[in-house]
Amino acid sequence: MEEGAKKIDRREFIGQVGMGVAALGALPSTQLFGLNARAIGANDRIRIGLIGAGDRGQQDLRDALKQPNVECVAVADVFSHRREQVKGYLPDVETYDDPRRLLDRKDIDAVINATPLHLHAKYFLATLAAGKDLYSEKTMTWDIPEAVACRNAARASKQVVQIGLQRESSGELADAKQWIQNGSTGKITMVESWMSRNTPIGRGQWVRPVPSDCNPDHVNWDLFLDGRPKIPFDGYKFINWRLFWEFSGGNVTENMVHQISWIISAMNLQVPKAATMMGGVFSEKDGRQVPDTIGVSLEYPDDVLVLWQSTFSNSRYGFGEHFLGDKGTIEHVSGSTDMVRGESKESVRYYPEKINNPSGAAIEGQNPGVNHMANWFACIRDRRQPNAPVEIGYLSAIAAHMSNLAYLHQRRITLEEAITAKPEAWMRPS
Ligand SMILES: NC(=O)c1ccc[n+]([C@@H]2O[C@H](COP(=O)([O-])OP(=O)(O)OC[C@H]3O[C@@H](n4cnc5c(N)ncnc54)[C@H](O)[C@@H]3O)[C@@H](O)[C@H]2O)c1
Repeated sequence: MEEGAKKIDRREFIGQVGMGVAALGALPSTQLFGLNARAIGANDRIRIGLIGAGDRGQQDLRDALKQPNVECVAVADVFSHRREQVKGYLPDVETYDDPRRLLDRKDIDAVINATPLHLHAKYFLATLAAGKDLYSEKTMTWDIPEAVACRNAARASKQVVQIGLQRESSGELADAKQWIQNGSTGKITMVESWMSRNTPIGRGQWVRPVPSDCNPDHVNWDLFLDGRPKIPFDGYKFINWRLFWEFSGGNVTENMVHQISWIISAMNLQVPKAATMMGGVFSEKDGRQVPDTIGVSLEYPDDVLVLWQSTFSNSRYGFGEHFLGDKGTIEHVSGSTDMVRGESKESVRYYPEKINNPSGAAIEGQNPGVNHMANWFACIRDRRQPNAPVEIGYLSAIAAHMSNLAYLHQRRITLEEAITAKPEAWMRPS
């Protein structure tokens, strides 16, 4: 991470948040990507590289390879185990432990970045600097200064950037946006959202076994730490980085970010005025630092309160969002278990309010949505703005990091405090 990326200019931050996702989407593509941006024809092959070939990176890779005229030529991962896994199904791919070698190759058009959270910004910035298009996993960054640096770099670049917030390409979001924009919901003052999972008793959510070859001979540990305080090799932390603040933002950056970006996009919100977050490690006290039981409140300008709650003990209600408007409600639910049939289905529905919308009718969303990876490649070909551009990556990252700051400091945190936070404020307890 470059030193400069850690400094935020307050006026620059405040001045530019006003350009939301919708405003950016309205810009012609020449303004976004410059007149000289290279167009890749429908029949031209797009050559990609993958940085971080872990669970998600390999899922993203498989998804990418299903798209027409896409070829993966290189994979970089600090763990030889992961490189060998990819070699098992892509024998001709070139592998490296240091992503720098992948980024130096001139024959790669686009990069998927699926590294652990603390490395997102580093490879985000390096990919753009190398002149390659980018698919970067969520959450966009580990902290707020990095989010500002990545947003600024993407705005200044001609590259096509898609954030791995795949629900931005969902049909349910398109339906919700339409109902909000056409006035069916009226004024929405509150959004309730939740994400709940059940975990086998005695086995903490997210905990993965450490492979027998996970040792300093097979892992470039210094490249994983990347400037974090030097500690002896720790295979458990390397595999289970999600549980530790140094490398992760916990469930807020793993899951809330998907839902908060959905809510931001549906309502065209900007950054919160303030955040609170309560909870703790309540489900399994297995040495993890990040909380499993969470209640977040985000206060947005123009009288909107967004609530998000999460548990790792009980999955009955799956995940979803309720947009509560004075003329109607949008109910988006997924993964909740039908008590009788034990089935779950994703759906989005609109329900009118009897008093303020007496002639309104209930509607079920029908929009099919698009594949998020396919959307990225389509945008690479014709230099268009993808469905999850840097702006939504940025706005959702700010909301997530304000929430975590509130939790770490055990009080309400305002936007002003969050953006001017001194580096010490980002120090996580170890
Ligand atoms: N969009 C989604 O729905 C979704 C789902 C799951 C995970 N994710 C995100 O994907 C990212 C990866 O998650 P995961 O579950 O695959 O983690 P993982 O630990 O399985 O994979 C991370 C990989 O990065 C490698 N790595 C570590 N340091 C590196 C470095 N300096 N250079 C190159 N490679 C390095 C590791 O060896 C590992 O193989 C996370 O940010 C996570 O939040 C997104």
